Amino acid sequence: MFTKMPYGGDYNPEQWDRATMEEDIRMFKKANIDFVRVHIFSWALSQPDEATYQFEWLDEVIDRLHENNIQVGIGTGTAAHPAWLAKKYPDVLRVEFNGMKRKFGGRHNSCPNSPSYRTFAKRLVERLVDRYKNHPAVVLWNVSNEFGGACYCENCEKAFRVWLKKRYRTLDEVNRVWNTRFWGHTFYDWDEIVAPNLLSEHFAENRTMFQGISLDYARFNSDSMLECYKMEYDVIKEGNPDTIVTTNLMGAFKPLDYFKWGKYMDVIAWDNYPAFDTPYSYTALMHDLMRGVKDQQPFMLMEQTPSQQNWQPYNSLKRPGVLKLWSYQAVAHGSDSVLYFQMRRSRGACEKFHGAVIEHVGHEHTRVFKEVAEIGQELVDLSNTFIGSKLLSKVAIVFDWENWWAIEYSSGPHADLKYVEQVHKYYEALYKKNIQVDIVSTDSDLEQYEVVIAPVLYMVKEGYVKRLERFVEAGGCFVTTFFSGIVDENDLVTLGGYPGELRSLLGIWSEEIDSLPLEHKNKMVLKSNRGQLQGEYDCNMLFDLIHSEGAEVVAEYGDDFYKGRPALTVNKYGKGEAWYVATNPEQDFIDHLLIDISERQNIKPVLNTPSGVEVTKRVKDENEFVFVMNHNKESKTIQLQEAYKDLQTGQLCQDQLTVEANGVLLLKV
Ligand code: GLA
Ligand code: ZN
Repeated sequence: MFTKMPYGGDYNPEQWDRATMEEDIRMFKKANIDFVRVHIFSWALSQPDEATYQFEWLDEVIDRLHENNIQVGIGTGTAAHPAWLAKKYPDVLRVEFNGMKRKFGGRHNSCPNSPSYRTFAKRLVERLVDRYKNHPAVVLWNVSNEFGGACYCENCEKAFRVWLKKRYRTLDEVNRVWNTRFWGHTFYDWDEIVAPNLLSEHFAENRTMFQGISLDYARFNSDSMLECYKMEYDVIKEGNPDTIVTTNLMGAFKPLDYFKWGKYMDVIAWDNYPAFDTPYSYTALMHDLMRGVKDQQPFMLMEQTPSQQNWQPYNSLKRPGVLKLWSYQAVAHGSDSVLYFQMRRSRGACEKFHGAVIEHVGHEHTRVFKEVAEIGQELVDLSNTFIGSKLLSKVAIVFDWENWWAIEYSSGPHADLKYVEQVHKYYEALYKKNIQVDIVSTDSDLEQYEVVIAPVLYMVKEGYVKRLERFVEAGGCFVTTFFSGIVDENDLVTLGGYPGELRSLLGIWSEEIDSLPLEHKNKMVLKSNRGQLQGEYDCNMLFDLIHSEGAEVVAEYGDDFYKGRPALTVNKYGKGEAWYVATNPEQDFIDHLLIDISERQNIKPVLNTPSGVEVTKRVKDENEFVFVMNHNKESKTIQLQEAYKDLQTGQLCQDQLTVEANGVLLLKV
């Protein structure tokens, strides 16, 4: 795809005069910036009215960049519709969750099912493709920008009915899967069905009275935006089948089922904006999730700020060294680019205080520019070394957007149950040990893994349990938790006892689920010690009251009327085993459980390091690259079992090495 990691980012020269652009280019070269993303929000400039297109300004920008050997990712510009379009064709304007019809303003808020939006967006992209498909500078197409949100307008409502007909065929089937005899909801005509929002089934975004319709609307909304993406994708590919087409995703962004999107993206690209206090393990999880969206292929870090954001309550600066550390963290988890938002700080409007490579002072003598330039130089020297390399993991964590929606739409059993938090807890345990993890969908093959963890697998899709059973039968280790196996894809409960279809794999029956405020704790008491898993641990939130149906009881509750009943079980199944964590344990418990499981499966850390020193490995052919990242505020020393070559200094490292505070080491085995 690329032979060198693209380095640069979002560039908006249309906000400046020509002389400023020349200055920008001069500075880009100083920082080895060789890729910029243009025309992301320029629809209004490129099309001043319905009949007129004016791309001369863009020709000039792209030509100048090309003359200076800077490659271009061209935005289709459809993320912000022009004011004239909204005025003349108000169907492009969204209706919000509360029923409010928007006027022109902001961005990212066109109705995905607006016929006018689709028509005019398509026309714009067709013209762009005609004009730039053969331009040698244009190496990538960025459709829209950060697709997101939802619309509840009448066009969406109509499209929803069509979507439902396609999925369920008959109204009888819709009535069945939504269980509409509850509260007298039987539908006799398709157009009795309305969008589920504050005007109809919802008390609030996450509080619905009818899970079935809300879940389907979430699916429909994600699909509607995907249709918009695909429409543009097809136009671009028709004009230029060999180019790279993508759009920038946003990590664990709830409204869009990115696993479905990944199939239509040539490369996954995403925007990483951790806050000052975001755990490093959470950022790592997001990178791994994005890699997982397209079968563990390398992805692109499409945006990050060089220094600070503007949209958080407190927009801290990245401390010296942190930009490089976080850039390499992306690379360490599979990114094949380092890109920023933005190249030059805007002068007005809401992003004028967002960090940029070129600050308001306008020259290159700034801390941020120097750090940017240093990374730029290093990528020239090194990046073709590890570009295209892969991470190989023996552990997979299952992530599923539909399950996420369903869990958080659920009325009960517990308001504080948050899916991503639960996934993060299991991820963090492995992260801390430098055990690499692939995030996989419910469609992914499991055969290459030794351990598969599915936190809160509430929704079990058709055929999935059979696949899990085959995995365990063949010797795999499966771990799942409380509130799993409860419903099918339609959020209809699997009858016959929890955890439903998972019952025989797990060898348990969960009779009841207790739910208590988080401050109300119980204990998980180990029946006998297993490695580091010893003694007792706190647990809270949800408590399954289990009967073993063949599973070994490893820990029991220490309190309440279910004291002495199973809190942790493991079931031998074929050549493998299946674990059930029946409650929400403190982090230590998960750490110890997963260390024990990894050790027994002979899964080794990439390196053993002190706390806060993260390590991953990327592999290409017979080459292995190890990334050592010190997130601590002081330097750390690591003991080595084998010798490595330090790619930054060329030196050989043996026995031990030291990594500075916020430092990164790039090693070759
Ligand atoms: C997003 C957008 C950019 C910009 C940045 C600011 O990622 O894609 O256009 O607004 O946020 O952080
Ligand atoms: Zn709409």
